Amino acid sequence: MRQSHRERTVGPWAKQKLDALESYLIAYQNVMKRWSFRLVYVDAFAGAGEFRLREYASVDSQDIGASLLDVDDDEEVLDDEDLVGIEEFVKGSPVRALSLDRPFDHYRFIDLDASRAQLLQDLQRDFPNLEIKAINDDANVAVQHIAKNFGAPDLRGVAFLDPYGAHLHWETLEALAKTKKFDVIINIPVHMAMNRLVRIDGKNEARDVEQMDKAFGCHDWHDVCYTVSGDLFAGERQIKVSDAPKQLLDLYVQRLRGIFSKVSQPSLVTNRRNCPLYYLIWAGENGTGLKIAEHILGLGDKVKVPRRKSV
Ligand SMILES: C[S@@+](CC[C@H](N)C(=O)[O-])C[C@H]1O[C@@H](n2cnc3c(N)ncnc32)[C@H](O)[C@@H]1O
Repeated sequence: MRQSHRERTVGPWAKQKLDALESYLIAYQNVMKRWSFRLVYVDAFAGAGEFRLREYASVDSQDIGASLLDVDDDEEVLDDEDLVGIEEFVKGSPVRALSLDRPFDHYRFIDLDASRAQLLQDLQRDFPNLEIKAINDDANVAVQHIAKNFGAPDLRGVAFLDPYGAHLHWETLEALAKTKKFDVIINIPVHMAMNRLVRIDGKNEARDVEQMDKAFGCHDWHDVCYTVSGDLFAGERQIKVSDAPKQLLDLYVQRLRGIFSKVSQPSLVTNRRNCPLYYLIWAGENGTGLKIAEHILGLGDKVKVPRRKSV
């Protein structure tokens, strides 16, 4: 089968994530307008600002999952034969955040890919009145730097942490939590990445173990994913538990509850054939934020962005 390496294309399920994000940002701004805080939006795995949404036909969801995931560089690779055609251009998270009726005071967009970082900086032309800084760096380094310098008492922020893979380090979440000033919305790529890094036979690659340790900030993911079976002749064997994705999610949520005061229920995002892809979750310090996030994330794929005044 011919393969396309199509830059900046994603599946329809991304819309659910973006609609949930935008709805949250609108509600956040409505609450925060009562205060005189300087508000900062941090998009840590920001993408290119805009991408093409693709429509799929006659392909098994598992195949979509596999073709999406058998890539190392975070691009979504799809078979041409699986694609019906381009459905529409979709505004990515940075453009959605910039287009709010009530925008943030400062925008920080981070992407490891230099050309994407440039596209993000170019958004300044479309939004000349907003303060935008694109950072071409590893999100963990950049966000930890931002968190360390978030001491001014009038600063508050929202951080959207949306990696394709298990690239968000626990240390980064700890740094954001420590400020007590950030609401975070996290894409936890349980099925798309984490569960795939945990091998059935327990013979995990050292680099995968390191990645999982960094993503969870501990090695407990290993204990929850395996049981040990005693074998008289072959010795002990590690066997991956059948509900490893659930175990990984539960561990992640439990650990989030250890560093943030409030954590929402995770919201599963699936593809059209109900194949689980990832979870969205909100964490922060504020009860109102939690209530809003629970409502929005609880809508799942029924989430709709409230009508705008100006667009
Ligand atoms: C899921 S996409 C972002 C989509 C975007 N949030 C949106 O909704 O429009 C993930 C992005 O993360 C970037 N990326 C991957 N690893 C990264 C890292 N360690 N630090 C920063 N960006 C990274 C990729 O280049 C890619 O553009």
